[in-house]
Amino acid sequence: MAKYLTLDDFKVKNKTVLVRVDFNSEIDPETKKVTSDVRIKAHAETTIKELVEKGAKTVILAHQGRKGDPDYTPLKEHAAILAKILRLPVKYVDDVYGEKAKTAIKALKSGEILVLENVRSFDGETKSGTPEQHAKTELVQNLAPLADLFVNDAFAAAHRGHVSMVGFTAVLPSAAGRIMERELKSLSRALEKPEKPCVYVMGGAKADDSLEISKYVLSNGIADYVVVGGVTSQLFLAAKGVDLGRKNMDFLAKKELTGLIPGIKELMQKYPSNVVVPVDVALDVNGKRKEISVAELPTEYSIFDIGAKTVENYAGLIRKAKSIVVSGPMGVYENKEFNYGTKKVFEAIAGSKAFSLAGGGNTIAAIQEYGLSGKVSYISTAGGALIEFLMGKKLPGVVALETAVKKKAV
Ligand code: 3PG
Repeated sequence: MAKYLTLDDFKVKNKTVLVRVDFNSEIDPETKKVTSDVRIKAHAETTIKELVEKGAKTVILAHQGRKGDPDYTPLKEHAAILAKILRLPVKYVDDVYGEKAKTAIKALKSGEILVLENVRSFDGETKSGTPEQHAKTELVQNLAPLADLFVNDAFAAAHRGHVSMVGFTAVLPSAAGRIMERELKSLSRALEKPEKPCVYVMGGAKADDSLEISKYVLSNGIADYVVVGGVTSQLFLAAKGVDLGRKNMDFLAKKELTGLIPGIKELMQKYPSNVVVPVDVALDVNGKRKEISVAELPTEYSIFDIGAKTVENYAGLIRKAKSIVVSGPMGVYENKEFNYGTKKVFEAIAGSKAFSLAGGGNTIAAIQEYGLSGKVSYISTAGGALIEFLMGKKLPGVVALETAVKKKAV
């Protein structure tokens, strides 16, 4: 039996389908406008389009930001963006499960779409709990009786055991949406028996995440090589005993990253030939790039990129790889002087015939900037959920789908 049900398992014509998507987008802090429609587009062009074409009454449940945060907004603009992408009318109601929302759901006709208000306007939403616990909440108690099927398409929020992510699966027939399916299939390709050699490229500044992922993929024989860049690589060099110079060490301490050094040291001792670190770096010398070898460290200047020899080493491993996962840039790629490492490593990934998977906000932005989008096998829409998946963690949203019982035929 399949691990979870999908849209292929249900007839949705004239049925009310409650779809949990992840519309959580970048918001301009000044104007409060959505600045990237990537996630809305992904759900629109797959799951939502399919449901509309099959004649379902589609009710959309989603979140944007968290109460108190600058990116916490209503979903009115998201509904308008969805309408524009689909070139179809999309209804919106500024209510999640009250009378207004219920009336709007009951009035839906086959093929119509309704976006409900930001689900996080319901105070209980962000509590973590089991499907059974969450099934007792007002949100589920009010909405579930109006729906025939629950579809969870929000892979990017699947690491949250929140009410709307798991509660409906205890009381409604439940299916994975197309984005959920696509993400799980692609990510599994990089984590469950990936084609070898398998290279994980870990850059960016989230060194704690990179360390956790590296530990998991090396100790489980998933990755053959972990190559590091960005701030992460500075920590790896420091763990190897390289003195980076006061400025760089102070920077790492300020970011509260130096506590990771013992863990990294342990990892490198255990897997000495599988963890690959830079052999040269690019310094910011009064705004200009200057490359030096790691042997020439310490330095009084900031390290802003990996050097050309390191790029060559990494590209060599990437060329031989059959599976590649990349998360995080190799340096301060937003600055032209220091985008060399990121650009060249990402170009090597794009040029490879391997199955390549990329994720994370900065990684996707860099891939788009270099025009490499179509050349990476799979770009995940997820941030935190992708990271937790790659650490081998079970995601509550996925577990709920796997344990959901087909209560009634739809
Ligand atoms: C994300 O963007 O990672 C998801 O939408 C989850 O959002 P959250 O971190 O606010 O729970």
